[in-house]
Amino acid sequence: MKLKLKNVFLAYFLVSIAGLLYALVQLGQPCDCLPPLRAAAEQLRQKDLRISQLQADLRRPPPAPAQPPEPEALPTIYVVTPTYARLVQKAELVRLSQTLSLVPRLHWLLVEDAEGPTPLVSGLLAASGLLFTHLAVLTPKAQRLREGEPGWVRPRGVEQRNRALDWLRSGGGAVGGEKDPPPPGTQGVVYFADDDNTYSRELFEEMRWTRGVSVWPVGLVGGLRFEGPRVQDGRVVGFHTAWEPNRPFPVDMAGFAIALSLLLAKPNARFDATAPRGHLESSLLSHLVDPKDLEPRAANCTRVRGWRFWCGTHGRRSPR
Ligand SMILES: *[C@@H]1O[C@H](CO)[C@@H](O)[C@H](O)[C@H]1NC(C)=O
Repeated sequence: MKLKLKNVFLAYFLVSIAGLLYALVQLGQPCDCLPPLRAAAEQLRQKDLRISQLQADLRRPPPAPAQPPEPEALPTIYVVTPTYARLVQKAELVRLSQTLSLVPRLHWLLVEDAEGPTPLVSGLLAASGLLFTHLAVLTPKAQRLREGEPGWVRPRGVEQRNRALDWLRSGGGAVGGEKDPPPPGTQGVVYFADDDNTYSRELFEEMRWTRGVSVWPVGLVGGLRFEGPRVQDGRVVGFHTAWEPNRPFPVDMAGFAIALSLLLAKPNARFDATAPRGHLESSLLSHLVDPKDLEPRAANCTRVRGWRFWCGTHGRRSPR
């Protein structure tokens, strides 16, 4: 029994040694666990590569979006606003300037009916954040309203709008802001926006690509809910107006825009201060375009994007 136990122990010892030797021999031998390891390493390498590619992409500036176009590619909208000192002047200019600041690529030509710039308007322009040119010209005495005359007897803002046209054509006379006129070849459009009207931001995008003269309806004008061109097959064939429909251009000042290139090509086109009542717009437009060539905007003139408002508390305008 004793001997047998010794044999068993010996056999166990030999088998263990053999196992140990086999294990030692196996160490350092290539084993079939390597291919999966290699595959894992390769995957890691691929991932590292992808990460460094993505990091490089992040460092690159993002590509320019296709829509909307870069502001520099847009034609500039030159908004001409005559203004004069009165109780509500600041309130109306703040309201208008904040509408205009919603519009990209816009240049505000603010023209004061005054001998020179007033601190109120200069301060407001400086704080507006808009690109602007500050002009000033006093309405000649002969054209000014006399005591007790109703507002509609003499057209307001004629001298001031003409001053803005002069600046666009040859520069000079600016009392603040941008002093140089648009460089030759500038793509732009000119719009006359009085400070007591209301303008939808969409209106400015309607007019931006005007080739000659574009037109659209204006709300709350001439005693009507709206006034504007009648359009058939995409062409202007007449005008919806309650007052003197036989005027050459029965359109409101707020109802049209003119390509800058057209204004520059017709240096004699300006507003005529002696034009009969309601003919001020025609006095400029008849130099520039044939009524049948007007470009209808605002979905063939079926939408209202700007509103005039007379008969207000400040008595600037009266119903005609
Ligand atoms: C205006 O009318 C013309 C002709 O009927 C049409 O071809 C065009 O699509 C219309 N434009 C808009 C913006 O509705």
